[in-house]
Amino acid sequence: MSVLFVTGAGTEIGKTYVSCALLRAWRESGVACDAFKPVVSGYEPGAAAGSDCGLLLSALGEALSETTLARISPWRFKAPLAPPLAAQAEGVELDFAAIERACRAHIDAQADRLVLIEGAGGVMAPLTESHTCLDLIAALRAPVVFVAGSYLGAVSHALSGLAVLDARGVSIGAVIVSESEDSVGLEETCAMIARLRPDDMITPAPRHVSRDWCAALAQRLAVQQSI
Ligand SMILES: Nc1ncnc2c1ncn2[C@@H]1O[C@H](COP(=O)(O)OP(=O)(O)OP(=O)(O)O)[C@@H](O)[C@H]1O
Ligand SMILES: [Mg+2]
Repeated sequence: MSVLFVTGAGTEIGKTYVSCALLRAWRESGVACDAFKPVVSGYEPGAAAGSDCGLLLSALGEALSETTLARISPWRFKAPLAPPLAAQAEGVELDFAAIERACRAHIDAQADRLVLIEGAGGVMAPLTESHTCLDLIAALRAPVVFVAGSYLGAVSHALSGLAVLDARGVSIGAVIVSESEDSVGLEETCAMIARLRPDDMITPAPRHVSRDWCAALAQRLAVQQSI
């Protein structure tokens, strides 16, 4: 069993994009994999294909149905808000222990697969009233794929996120800098992060990454995770 938690410097940074790229590349190279995104907000049932769980299912080559969507994302809420607020709008209070249990059950059910778990928003985004995504990562003791951007200010956001992961003893599997639409320089951003985080594997993800890029990253992570 192998797990990677995909988190990042913020919301809309590229976590699902990178996750789907990795899942496709693993499948193409014969690495059995699965995905889980326990809590999704901003979920429109009429546009499920474009939701995070819909995109992850498509990358896994699975058909979209109520059953498969619920398998990948048991908690789905309409409001495009932080999970506890989106849940509250539907009269639900998210329970951290239940989310942690669901992640463990999903991982345990995939004994021979590499499982990617995507968090909601940035690394310290609230997941419930009393816990952040960081708490879930720490509880699962999962290594992370940390996704950052290349916009002005992205280096500080990345370093802050990585520092809180360090403080909780979380292992950093890879840092992916996904080129932002308003990028101030992908290579420069990577170089600055690399200078300040010399022990991390920093990988640039240009806009619309190539198949070769996906294959190379997927291969490196699979080796790192001994798959
Ligand atoms: N390297 C990239 N090339 C092209 N498009 C990208 C890239 N990275 C991200 N995007 C696009 O940016 C948008 C936001 O990315 P994505 O949905 O992956 O973010 P996220 O971190 O998963 O957000 P959320 O916090 O809502 O889960 C999407 O439309 C995605 O396709
Ligand atoms: Mg996402």
